[in-house]
Amino acid sequence: MKVAVVGAGYVGVVTGAGLAALGHTVVCVDLDPDKVKAIAAARAPFFEPGLDEVLARELAAGRLSAFTDLAASLAGSDISIIAVGTPSRAGGIDLADVRGAARAIGALLPSLGRYHVVVVKSTVVPSTTDTVVRQELESASGMDAGPDFGLAMNPEFLSEGRAVEDFTKPDRIVVGALDERTADAMEELYAGFDCPILRTSPRNAEMIKYAANTLFATLISFSNEIAGLCEAIPGLDEEVVMRGLRLDRRWWTPGDRGERVHPGALAYLRAGIGFGGSCFPKDLAAICGFAESRGVAMPVLGAVIEVNGMRASRVVDLLAKRLGPLRDKRVAVLGLAFKPETDDVRESPGVKIVNVLLGRGANVAVHDPIVRMEAVRAGLDGHVTQAKDPVEAASGADALVVATGWDPYRRLDWSRVASAMRTPIILDGRQIVDAARLPAGVTLINIGFGFENEARGAAQAAVSPGIA
Ligand code: UGA
Repeated sequence: MKVAVVGAGYVGVVTGAGLAALGHTVVCVDLDPDKVKAIAAARAPFFEPGLDEVLARELAAGRLSAFTDLAASLAGSDISIIAVGTPSRAGGIDLADVRGAARAIGALLPSLGRYHVVVVKSTVVPSTTDTVVRQELESASGMDAGPDFGLAMNPEFLSEGRAVEDFTKPDRIVVGALDERTADAMEELYAGFDCPILRTSPRNAEMIKYAANTLFATLISFSNEIAGLCEAIPGLDEEVVMRGLRLDRRWWTPGDRGERVHPGALAYLRAGIGFGGSCFPKDLAAICGFAESRGVAMPVLGAVIEVNGMRASRVVDLLAKRLGPLRDKRVAVLGLAFKPETDDVRESPGVKIVNVLLGRGANVAVHDPIVRMEAVRAGLDGHVTQAKDPVEAASGADALVVATGWDPYRRLDWSRVASAMRTPIILDGRQIVDAARLPAGVTLINIGFGFENEARGAAQAAVSPGIA
């Protein structure tokens, strides 16, 4: 099929490249000539492992191109996919770009001279596609959705850092189509995938996306709340508690035949320093704002936001409990990205921790394998130094916080790090530090672990190996 993807942001570029790899002829369209130039040169306008390689392959195969001209990109196409941003705005989302894209596509629909399906991929609150988008398309085209053109909502489930794999091996495809003809065209688009396709209405598709993200966020805040209690009661260990919880057969995937494999989603049942990124915080705010506007209370999701909002200061409290007042203490923070394998710092919990530390008068040195200071400076509440490596960040530090679960941090030479520190106190905010690899004399503060009992390894020994 011939596909135009409108909006060359994160979702648009991964989707465009992925559809080209499925054998479709894809044009990525964006108003920004720099983005278009970058894509045409096989350089994604953001960091995403493996994406540049797919771009290069598909550009060379002639299945992928990038343009600023929407009319030329839409000519002869079967499907256009709206993948523009929906930034947060006053407790909701800003639909200006979605509206603009729908109007521009609508204006071109009459000239296409063929059946065309317009797909909303941007995350939008329920009823946006079949009201706002539909109206923009119909008024700009003078045509009717249904008889004259197809309309669908098709949410994306791409995680940053593993988006290429998420696209090529989807768990499911959700097709929220206005009618059967549209749904059939969407199934043809995704025919190359071997995964369940859920056909439903645009509204359900929109809600599935919010329900998915807010459920994972809920698991995280739930885990962090349990961790808070574990931290206050000597001997309690959130990690063991969660292991016990995951062993309940109701979490297992059907067809396990007794293998104790749990669905990957249960990875989110794990305490940490809170969630961030461009999706969970924004989607929670948007769906709560939407519910409120319709007079519906969502107290659980409100609490999920509240628990997450307290997380950075609760984590710093754990440190202060051991270290005393933080004024003029030197603290190293490893990791600024909101999670590993990305340079994205939006709503990053690591940045929030740095700000809490600064607010309590600490001197902070940071390290991140790929995030540069310029990317975070505007969001920092004071002066911070950036170190070229973890040992330099740790130099002279009274404590160190692991804030992003980067792989290199799992493999750190802790002897070198600890000997560079003034006092070797390490707070593992991501539960990635292997206590067995720490030299003697290091104090390891674990999230979700009763303060007076630091021998987490001993508690784990009671759990049979191989059980996740
Ligand atoms: C999330 C969803 O996982 C995707 O399915 C969805 O498509 C995407 O949002 C989106 O709406 O576009 P993403 O924001 O890339 O993807 O990141 P996740 O890997 O889900 O992590 C989100 C946050 O939760 C991160 O800050 C991460 O560190 C945190 N997290 C994740 C935890 O604190 N604990 C965990 O166990 C897992």
